[in-house]
Amino acid sequence: MKLRRWTAVAAVAVATAAMLNTVPATAGRPYDPTAQSLGTLGQRHGLHIGTAVDMDALADPADPRYRELAASEFSSVTAENVMKWESLEPTRGSYDWAPADAFIDFARRNDQRVRGHVLVWHNQLPGWLTSGVADGSISREELRELLRKHITTVVSRYRGRIWQWDVVNEAVSDPWDTPSTLHYKGFWAQHLGPGYIADAFRWARAADPKALLFYNDYNIEAFGSGDPANDKTQFVYDMAKRLLAEGVPIDGVGSQGHLGTQYGNFDTFQVAAALKRFSALGLATAFTEVDVRSRLTEGVLAGDSEEINPRLQASASNFSVLLKACLADRHCLSYTVWGFSDRHSWVPDWFDDPPEGLATLYDEQYRPKRAYQEVKADLIFAGPPYVLPRATHRPRR
Ligand code: XIL
Repeated sequence: MKLRRWTAVAAVAVATAAMLNTVPATAGRPYDPTAQSLGTLGQRHGLHIGTAVDMDALADPADPRYRELAASEFSSVTAENVMKWESLEPTRGSYDWAPADAFIDFARRNDQRVRGHVLVWHNQLPGWLTSGVADGSISREELRELLRKHITTVVSRYRGRIWQWDVVNEAVSDPWDTPSTLHYKGFWAQHLGPGYIADAFRWARAADPKALLFYNDYNIEAFGSGDPANDKTQFVYDMAKRLLAEGVPIDGVGSQGHLGTQYGNFDTFQVAAALKRFSALGLATAFTEVDVRSRLTEGVLAGDSEEINPRLQASASNFSVLLKACLADRHCLSYTVWGFSDRHSWVPDWFDDPPEGLATLYDEQYRPKRAYQEVKADLIFAGPPYVLPRATHRPRR
């Protein structure tokens, strides 16, 4: 009995020493994981931690901290706007590559992987395209050909530079749309029919055999949210399964992860279960646009800490739920936040009635918020047996 207890203690000591040996030490100073960037800490799990990058903020000489943090804290980047069709081809037939090229260069200089965003979406389309379709001067056949050309041109230009492409974004309706039963919504489904989805993946694959091709959407964090007959996650799951059965080269499903503290949201196990169901289809997954906004009530705006504190804590907790669920699934390859500072977040611009904000990891003065610390803690304290290195995903032919 005594001997056995001693053996157990010794085994723990040996294991601990072995683990300590694997921890890098810097010239005599003890290793301090909290001093590492999120990107570096993600590497232990093979998980890339990314951010959306606002190219105007990046170029602002008065805002050097934005550049520093975008470069140092993250191992993956997504262009917040400059790779969208309206930015790339503002005038028909003439592409303005400069901002997107600058973005790709930034990623290369900082050794960051790139999520390409976005090839097919109903928003931020050039005016010439939408008005041409509206006035009938662009026919259905021509529209399909324009889409093929756009995908081919953009994917070819950045071939070899893009890790994951968001090929199709937000194709599925929400229960509050009309009709309320889930359907393929928006410009592309309306004018080309849902077949454009399979086409888009095939055209993207033809232009870059090495990028992982993703379908990306919001409100798909978990199954069983609301009426089971009207479950958006289930709809996307069925769609992905059908595309795979048809041999369409889809490699992953991206869950945007735009949450709000005023909603019920999900627990870690519900989110992990959803990721597992997608990966059981053979797909990679990713959180692609995480932010957790809050209502800016009069109290919040007046600086009332009793109103601010619970919101900051709830935001941190929701960032953490998505990250832990991602860590728990080896096929969840990246966790990207949609902007890292409240100084540059789309939330106040987009959700202004009633006003919302406080959605990111850093406040407007670039002070890390509780959400930042919780994300960091999750990356530090996770490990085997429940959190394992990422699986390898190869593009499907
Ligand atoms: C948003 C950008 O953050 C804003 O700057 C822009 O005005 C509108 O688009 N889902 C997406 C992203 O896939 O492209 C959107 O980005 C946010 C919602």
